[in-house]
Amino acid sequence: MGWLERIGFLGSRRRRRELGKLESEIGAVTAERDAYLRQRDVALGERNEFLRQRDIAIGERNELLRQRDIALAERNALRHLRETNPEASSLRPERREGSPGLTFLANRFGSDKGDAVGNAHDYTALYSFLLEAWRNDEFQMLELGLQRAAGAPTAYLDPKRQVSDVPSVRMWLEFFPRAHCYGFDCADFTGISVPRFTFIRGDVGNRRDLERLANTLPPLRLIVDDASHASYHQQIAFATLFAKLESNGLYIIEDVDYQPAYEAELPACLKTHEVFGRFLDGGSLALPDSAGQLASLIRNVFVHRGASSGESSGPMKLIAVAKR
Ligand SMILES: C[S@@+](CC[C@H](N)C(=O)[O-])C[C@H]1O[C@@H](n2cnc3c(N)ncnc32)[C@H](O)[C@@H]1O
Repeated sequence: MGWLERIGFLGSRRRRRELGKLESEIGAVTAERDAYLRQRDVALGERNEFLRQRDIAIGERNELLRQRDIALAERNALRHLRETNPEASSLRPERREGSPGLTFLANRFGSDKGDAVGNAHDYTALYSFLLEAWRNDEFQMLELGLQRAAGAPTAYLDPKRQVSDVPSVRMWLEFFPRAHCYGFDCADFTGISVPRFTFIRGDVGNRRDLERLANTLPPLRLIVDDASHASYHQQIAFATLFAKLESNGLYIIEDVDYQPAYEAELPACLKTHEVFGRFLDGGSLALPDSAGQLASLIRNVFVHRGASSGESSGPMKLIAVAKR
């Protein structure tokens, strides 16, 4: 082999060696890259799993916060109740067969239908007697007048009166867990949201409002008038709404022994206790605007009187009219 050939041979051997080295370096780099890609995939998988777990943890935290807010709102409502009705704070539940009774519920929610708050009328004892049988029924009811106010009865006439709750509606809905309660009042309760409660605003002294109410409502099992207590209002409301009752339904008028002072300025009529007293005596119903034909729809009238130790019976306080 000549020297030129020898140089060429040596050159190509070096190139082959270098090529071999290069190939093995490329192989090592490729293997490193593959290992790196594998590790990156593992890291990505771990990161995705971490993000998934973080989302679950955030969801759980939000649910806990939601539950805490509900618990706080309930605690604040109870505290508000205790502060505004100190009489209610010392009460123990009056439980019957595991469910709270109407008196306990009235006292707890701050209605004076029970025996501890405000005028403490204790109507709930009567209501338990009259209404226990409907406790688990699904039905619709209406209450006229939704939250008492401090001060003179004229406080109710202020259309801007601030209201904060619907105590007796809460009482009814807890006692009747399958009922729906409509509430009617001249004050604005639209801001108060309670499941199974529908508010309709209006004045029991305004016939158009009463007609609108009657046209909005479904058939009702129970109507309770605890609004202005003025006889004229009680009677035009009865005349407009009594026909909305289902057969055997009850129309209850509370506080018929009381009249607000402004009652003297309303159209003249008998007092409500006189109207139903005469009905019990003679069967005729002396309502304004010849609504007396409603007498034929009345099955019975129940009367609750105030206590009296004298010979004559106490004044009528509450009337329950049963529909045929
Ligand atoms: C005695 S409070 C009702 C109390 C409630 N039912 C309870 O047991 O806790 C009387 C309610 O009747 C309403 N009211 C008074 N005059 C009214 C009228 N002319 N029309 C409609 N609602 C009236 C008042 O705004 C008030 O909410």
